[in-house]
Amino acid sequence: MSENGTVTASRREFLAGASALAGVALPHVHAAENNTIQIALVGCGGRGTGAAINALSVANGPTKLVAMADVFPKKLNDSYDKLRTQFAAQVDVPPERRLLGFDAYRQVMDYLKPGGVVILGTPPAFRWVQFSYAIEKGLHTFMEKPVTVDGPTTRRMLKLGELAAAKNLKAGVGLMVRHCRARQELLDRIRSGQIGDIVAMRAYRMGQGGGTAPPKPEGISELMYQIQRFHAFLWASGGVFSDYYIHQIDECSWMKGAWPVEAHAVGGRHYRRDSLDQNFDTYSVQYVYPDGTRLFFDGRNMAGCRDEFASYAHGSKGSAVISTLSHTPGMTRIYKGQKMPRVNSRKELPLPDDPNLVWAYPQPERSPYQLEWDDLMEAIRQDKPYNEVQRGAEASLVASMGRMAAHTGQIVTFDQILNCPHEFAPSVDRLTPDGPAPLQMGPDGKYPVPQPGVLTDREY
Ligand SMILES: NC(=O)c1ccc[n+]([C@@H]2O[C@H](COP(=O)([O-])OP(=O)(O)OC[C@H]3O[C@@H](n4cnc5c(N)ncnc54)[C@H](O)[C@@H]3O)[C@@H](O)[C@H]2O)c1
Repeated sequence: MSENGTVTASRREFLAGASALAGVALPHVHAAENNTIQIALVGCGGRGTGAAINALSVANGPTKLVAMADVFPKKLNDSYDKLRTQFAAQVDVPPERRLLGFDAYRQVMDYLKPGGVVILGTPPAFRWVQFSYAIEKGLHTFMEKPVTVDGPTTRRMLKLGELAAAKNLKAGVGLMVRHCRARQELLDRIRSGQIGDIVAMRAYRMGQGGGTAPPKPEGISELMYQIQRFHAFLWASGGVFSDYYIHQIDECSWMKGAWPVEAHAVGGRHYRRDSLDQNFDTYSVQYVYPDGTRLFFDGRNMAGCRDEFASYAHGSKGSAVISTLSHTPGMTRIYKGQKMPRVNSRKELPLPDDPNLVWAYPQPERSPYQLEWDDLMEAIRQDKPYNEVQRGAEASLVASMGRMAAHTGQIVTFDQILNCPHEFAPSVDRLTPDGPAPLQMGPDGKYPVPQPGVLTDREY
């Protein structure tokens, strides 16, 4: 049973094999004897570097960054310089432990002693490959979301999650909002009936653009170009839908206490211009929960349009704001009735008094990006069970479900996406910089894009 709700018959059957491993008693893996927890970073971009900062900022015991891996030297060097400047005493990564290439993840994990933590800040396509090796090496893992991009990789990741739990390895997934104390208090209040039964939810992630891929410049292989522009290509990231929208779909489903069982969606490409990416500019999805409740999700990547980045729950006795203007601060609130003031920008903060306001989490609130690391390290040091892989894989799958519904123009159910045979990049564990890319151009010099109503059982 997922923390978050329903388990379908087919999923139960699927997990039966992996669950058998969970009962096998294996030795506990503790932090290094000197009490310093070693950290390795794989994928030294924006979020990987941010996660390393969070790991080095945890207050409950010493941590040290000992190895770093990437596929682009500039990314690795910039990240190293930033971390070294900020945490001179905790960054011990000499040149021989700064590694480049598709196998570099193995080499940096080889440097870690069992009980160390590896950060997977790479594009989602590489998650199952790199997590497999972390489990083999007896390492704890912090991996960014999404953790899968399609049905086959989700099935694989669910099995790996079971395997990690069986080896008592802790695994955090970067759905950091789950660690936000404001959202946790809101969830308690919703569960205690303060807004009544949730009858509908709405969420929006509408920004000025993203996920584009201008034609490939000279001097870079097609594969490296696709990796560099990973939001543009479904094999690498699940596209902007999976990469950006997963958070809101996850936080709403968490508040609802269930995963949606099906999705129906629309979307289209309006202004992609010379971009070679596979994304739509707009997505509008109706997610249906087991009791018939709906989440209405709107995503837009379009300059000149109104931005919104928020999630709301409507209940039979009141309503709640789950997210206000971004992931953090959440500024969670509960209102009497269904009317909530619209917050257009940070300039409007603090919010004016509202006679319908019932409760608001006090500001300032702590960053969930730090809290997720505090919680993971606490679990490692206290040897408490800690494995977020199942809920991370299910959140990734539910994101893929909505994306596939929009891309095919069909209703897609949870079981259909879980059992969907289309694996976007079956060779992702065997890539070489000059080898073929998982996505190939057509004779028109363009990559294939979704065609709703034409391609109905696969996205491209
Ligand atoms: N939780 C959040 O709020 C949040 C925010 C931003 C990004 N993310 C997630 O973090 C991940 C990375 O996103 P980002 O914005 O940091 O992207 P990024 O491009 O800045 O970083 C990705 C890094 O991985 C490297 N890389 C790619 N393939 C690699 C491989 N096979 N081996 C080693 N290194 C490899 C890239 O060169 C790059 O340095 C994504 O999954 C994204 O969804 C999460």
